[in-house]
Amino acid sequence: MKDAFSESKIAGIKLRNRIIRSATHEGLADDFGNPTEELIKKYEDLAKGEVGAIITGYAAVMQNGKSPLINMLMIDKDEKIPYYTELVDRVHQYNTPIFLQITHCGRQTFSRTTGMPTVAPSPIKDKLYNEDIPHELTDSEIDEIIKCFVIAIERAKKAGFDGVQLQLSHGYLLSSFLSPHMNKRNDKWGGSTENRFRIVKKIMERAREKVVDYPILAKMNGYEKSKDGIKLEEALIIARNLEKASCDAIEISCGIAEEGFVGIRGEFPFDMIAQHNHLMQKMPKILYPFIKPVLKHSFASPEPRYLYNLDSAIEIKKNIKIPVIVVGGIRKLEDAYNMIQREQCDFIAMSRPFIIEPTIVKKFKENKQQQSKCIDCNYCQIGVEKTPVKCYYGKM
Ligand SMILES: Cc1cc2nc3c(=O)[nH]c(=O)nc-3n(C[C@H](O)[C@H](O)[C@H](O)COP(=O)(O)O)c2cc1C
Repeated sequence: MKDAFSESKIAGIKLRNRIIRSATHEGLADDFGNPTEELIKKYEDLAKGEVGAIITGYAAVMQNGKSPLINMLMIDKDEKIPYYTELVDRVHQYNTPIFLQITHCGRQTFSRTTGMPTVAPSPIKDKLYNEDIPHELTDSEIDEIIKCFVIAIERAKKAGFDGVQLQLSHGYLLSSFLSPHMNKRNDKWGGSTENRFRIVKKIMERAREKVVDYPILAKMNGYEKSKDGIKLEEALIIARNLEKASCDAIEISCGIAEEGFVGIRGEFPFDMIAQHNHLMQKMPKILYPFIKPVLKHSFASPEPRYLYNLDSAIEIKKNIKIPVIVVGGIRKLEDAYNMIQREQCDFIAMSRPFIIEPTIVKKFKENKQQQSKCIDCNYCQIGVEKTPVKCYYGKM
């Protein structure tokens, strides 16, 4: 029988257990996007806490894919490789695999952040970022993006990462190509599921020519809230396509940023949003009591708050043979045990529980704690727009 604490493998990479730190932007890169000493220490703490594997915060493959959240990792230049090698070597001292999550933020950024126009499959304004109508990518620009992803994978391999994870979730560029909500193209990059998947397929094909069997994982949405977004039926096809394209494991998430607290659920952190959000800051405070219920109505979390990607993961697992990782509202050791033992997924991943307790896996393993102390206040998610990630525990 499979156990949450049994040793296991992803694409031949040994993990000491089946509990993974899901990608979490820490806001701890330097001005150029290199990992800092502070970030390395955070990852060492996770490794010392006996996490099965670490997936880094997202790293942009090119300048126009950079996030407006402070101090994002960048993997856009060869000069960065030695900084990442230092990070990887320090984590490997504790026999912990580490995967680099790579992304392009697409329309979920600002041109004032990147110094370039925002780009997307289709010229549809993002309701949350709400700044520019993104530039509709041309064939040659799409080809350039594919190249940048492939070079980023080669850089990750050179730096010694155990593999990469393509971020196909949460509305970022590759996610926006996959989603019929954001991709309205009529050419070979849009329309059918196959066409919307083409950019990912090309990245996988060209990456395999360069890095052969180097582990390439993906994080994808099992569903989106928007009426015309991805639904589970289509997610099953995407998962099968990923497996066919030789992806090594799939992490199941949900939601896109403009849908609000869907992919990251819990409380609606109005006070934190009021303090941090650029649009809120432009509004007079006297309007806040009227704005709060309106925002809450549009952006608050749907139910359930916990294990909200489990049903999608179960269905996706029935359709593919590669490992399935599930993330989203996993807080109890008992749930982790059950999901693994019942073979509903192969690995579980968590993000916020590691922000409040980097050593939670060790505490679980030693039976010192049965549940995460995270209260899902979501202040960490808003706070990280301007300051490095930390647990606020519901207090400003
Ligand atoms: C502060 C913060 C930063 C995050 N950064 C990323 C990221 O860089 N890439 C990503 O795919 N997901 C990111 N996420 C989402 C998490 O990986 C995860 O999917 C989500 O928080 C749900 O898991 P949880 O309930 O265990 O927190 C982030 C979440 C938080 C709270």
